[in-house]
Amino acid sequence: MERQVIDEIQQLKKEKNAVILAHYYTWPEVQAIADFSGDSLGLSRKAGETDADIIVFAGVEFMAETASIISPEKKVLIPEGNLGCSLADCITAEKLRNWKSQYPEAVVVSYVNSTAEVKAESDYCCTSGNAVNVLKAIPEDKQILFCPDANLGAWAAKEAGREVILWKGGCHVHVAMNLSMLKKAAATYPDHEILMHPEASCSAEIPEELKEKTYIYSTAGMIKHVAVSAKKKFLIATEPGILYELQQQNPEKEFVAIDSFLVCGSMKTITPEKILAALKYETRVVKVNDELAAKARKPIERMISINR
Ligand code: 13P
Ligand code: SF4
Repeated sequence: MERQVIDEIQQLKKEKNAVILAHYYTWPEVQAIADFSGDSLGLSRKAGETDADIIVFAGVEFMAETASIISPEKKVLIPEGNLGCSLADCITAEKLRNWKSQYPEAVVVSYVNSTAEVKAESDYCCTSGNAVNVLKAIPEDKQILFCPDANLGAWAAKEAGREVILWKGGCHVHVAMNLSMLKKAAATYPDHEILMHPEASCSAEIPEELKEKTYIYSTAGMIKHVAVSAKKKFLIATEPGILYELQQQNPEKEFVAIDSFLVCGSMKTITPEKILAALKYETRVVKVNDELAAKARKPIERMISINR
């Protein structure tokens, strides 16, 4: 990365009182210039805490929307347009309303990987880092609709000991991480501890022989686990962008991606140059209108209050 780009970013950040938040799936050079890198939960928290006037969000659009919902007074900028998420695209507010009408007594838990309109139709939000706690906090007599990620929902329901009705959505990156891929990788790397994202297809059906060395975590959960694990080698079953932070924090440990070609195209379109342009021209503003934001904020706040 050119020194000049970094210098200009630092200068503009100071002048405009801006902060850069980056998801762990972005390129290493993007995470390297961010003020904070994190998982969806960590990034939401940061967006709420920061006293910066501008947030440049190096992540997909639903993440920037969440920042705008949490911090409506801030200007939220994205470095690139149309940063979609295949998972968030699996359900619309209209589809959710139709689904809800079939279960009038149920509460809706929406994964944070969803649009503001879908959040506004939901009772609770959750992230991969707190889905189990959110499900446990719901009164036991309540029927639960979980959307849009079926894999996360199935795994979290099993962990929380709850029954949920699943929307059959999935992320194209993690859906590809299935049982046969896991078994093959585990055989190739028999000494590695396995860290898997709950969005992966097989997160709720880890084979008996791998259970002892397989852990299901959000991206931030993986980082915490590695910090305390005595193991030196890890097989990582999520988007490989996370390997940057893992390696930064643990230079003596070894990490291998389950498939280094399974990447999130939207995250990978973000570059330091585009972040610089976002700061300079402030053209791509993500602003959720006040009425919608007020509705979408409720399930997010409920989630945050469960997981303080
Ligand atoms: P995390 O919240 O675990 O970082 O997951 C976000 C995401 O988009 C997973 O595909
Ligand atoms: Fe969406 Fe999947 Fe990309 Fe995560 S990895 S942002 S769920 S498309």
